[in-house]
Amino acid sequence: MKKRVLVSGGAGYIGSHVTVELIAAGYEVVVADNMSNCDMTCFEGVKKITGRDDIPFEKIDCCDSAAVDKLFSDYAIDAVIHFAAFKAVGESVAEPLKYYRNNLLSFLNILEAAKSHSGCNVLFSSSATVYGEAETLPVTESTPRMPATSPYGNTKQMSEDILRDVVFATAKYDGKDGQWPVKGIALRYFNPMGAHPSALIGELPRGVPNNLVPFITQTAIGKRECLSIFGNDYPTADGTCLRDYIDVVDLAKAHVAAVSRMVEGKMKEDYEIFNIGTGRPVSVYELVTAFEKVNGLKLNYKFAPRRPGDVVAIWADTSLANKELGWKAERTLEQTLASAWAWEKHLAENA
Ligand code: UFG
Repeated sequence: MKKRVLVSGGAGYIGSHVTVELIAAGYEVVVADNMSNCDMTCFEGVKKITGRDDIPFEKIDCCDSAAVDKLFSDYAIDAVIHFAAFKAVGESVAEPLKYYRNNLLSFLNILEAAKSHSGCNVLFSSSATVYGEAETLPVTESTPRMPATSPYGNTKQMSEDILRDVVFATAKYDGKDGQWPVKGIALRYFNPMGAHPSALIGELPRGVPNNLVPFITQTAIGKRECLSIFGNDYPTADGTCLRDYIDVVDLAKAHVAAVSRMVEGKMKEDYEIFNIGTGRPVSVYELVTAFEKVNGLKLNYKFAPRRPGDVVAIWADTSLANKELGWKAERTLEQTLASAWAWEKHLAENA
């Protein structure tokens, strides 16, 4: 019998790529999404890539506890991957209540439902943001977390802690009174970018993109006039910030590895954390010039003042994920940047 994975936020950027890789690996998937930050483009793309027209799709808001509980009753769920959350750092500073309410309540509902249904494992989509401005680089999973610099970052830290506490508290349950143990994994993503090689799914930012790669591709296609590189006076070789850019398909495969570890009973602890990155720092300037080179075009960019809240540098030590998940980022920076550009062109051709 195939194992079934619930992907909350499964119609979004990362969720859609994860759905594709789960199906390729032989899992059944149920996608749940309230469509608050996406349309059906990616879900339709997932159906085309997988050749599966019958993937269950449930339009629900995970803040609705009854709807979440019903989902767990309607389908036998072996694992849930929880993506359903708001993710704009700046907006979270302006509207903290919206972020705390949505990101925490939805996760609490998922955990309540997992605890009430036997054998449900929970994978939480966390972020390198929990490390803040780390004192030593690269960061390992035991590098101390720094105080969050935004409500968004705080929801990631709080959700990690909530998951850890629930795993700890439920370990003693045996199904009496309808309560079951929950096991959990938090994946801390570095900077996801790129799109599926088919160019049928990718990132669909609403309005002006906050993140670097969609801003680059939208500038290249002519939707934006000029890319601002925020800060060229940082203490790095070329003065621009360093990040660890992880291809979204590689990232999706890390989820499959983590889900398999959970459902096959291979976890070493009931709550585990893994960094998901490449282990390779790349500067903003390097990324921009690599994009130009691989796609054979000239990008209109300028240097601009630093963006408040940016850390100078962050990249992952990925040895734990490499060893324990048997996973490693495989796609090159060039492949990923080419895929991001192919996706932007696909969007323009289908507009
Ligand atoms: N940048 C620019 N110009 C832009 C956009 C970004 O120069 O138009 C620079 C930023 O200053 C930064 C780098 O590109 O140096 C990466 O910026 P992103 O906004 O793409 O990504 P961040 O590293 O700021 O944020 C990412 C995730 C967040 C997460 C954070 C944790 O998007 O969800 O990492 O470090 F919280």
